[in-house]
Amino acid sequence: MNNSYSGHGRFITLEGGEGAGKSTNLEYLRGRLAAAGIAVTVTREPGGTPLGEQIRGLLLDPADTSMHPDTELLLMFAARAQHLQERVLPALRRGEWVLCDRFTDATYAYQGGGRGLDVQRIAELETWVQAGFQPYRTLLFDLPVAVGLQRAGDRGALDRFEQERTAFFERVRKSYLERAGAFPDRFRVIDAGRELAAVQAQLDAVVDELVSA
Ligand code: TMP
Repeated sequence: MNNSYSGHGRFITLEGGEGAGKSTNLEYLRGRLAAAGIAVTVTREPGGTPLGEQIRGLLLDPADTSMHPDTELLLMFAARAQHLQERVLPALRRGEWVLCDRFTDATYAYQGGGRGLDVQRIAELETWVQAGFQPYRTLLFDLPVAVGLQRAGDRGALDRFEQERTAFFERVRKSYLERAGAFPDRFRVIDAGRELAAVQAQLDAVVDELVSA
């Protein structure tokens, strides 16, 4: 698998629990980077390609009540393999920056923390699919679980993950914060519980750091 690229593109991922405001803030980030003259591709996981979006449909369908956690994990990485090869790496090779709504940190948080799957197995699949490829920067939108679930619930029908219990999302949040602590050079933690202007001020600082580096 060829996961190398020689352009100046940067792979930037956005992470966080339910209702953390990633979508709104992703649009804000896209605008800030575009204003700085940077070509940006916006995408998401699971999904981002026609095949990946079909896999996403399977993963989020509340009717899939019998999905085994191993199946869930493998489908996440199946969608990721397609996404990397079809979308992410080509964009980076063209010199674009890629803003991706979730990536492998979500697998550690949801399938590892949330579902309790063995982290070593996730790491093996990560090596298999990514061959060392990692985001340049990861923004973790952190907020109290109750606040996020309230926001997600206000959006309407809940998907298969959103139907999980509070304890599941507490484990997800803990795993995310542990990963941010383990990889401080890559992660920037955004306090997403604050009002929009305050969140965007934190994003401005991240963008300034990115475009000047
Ligand atoms: P979204 O709601 O942010 O679009 O993400 C879809 C759901 O997929 C969300 O509940 C988190 C979950 N997910 C995982 O469980 N593992 C993963 O690796 C990814 C990328 C997402």
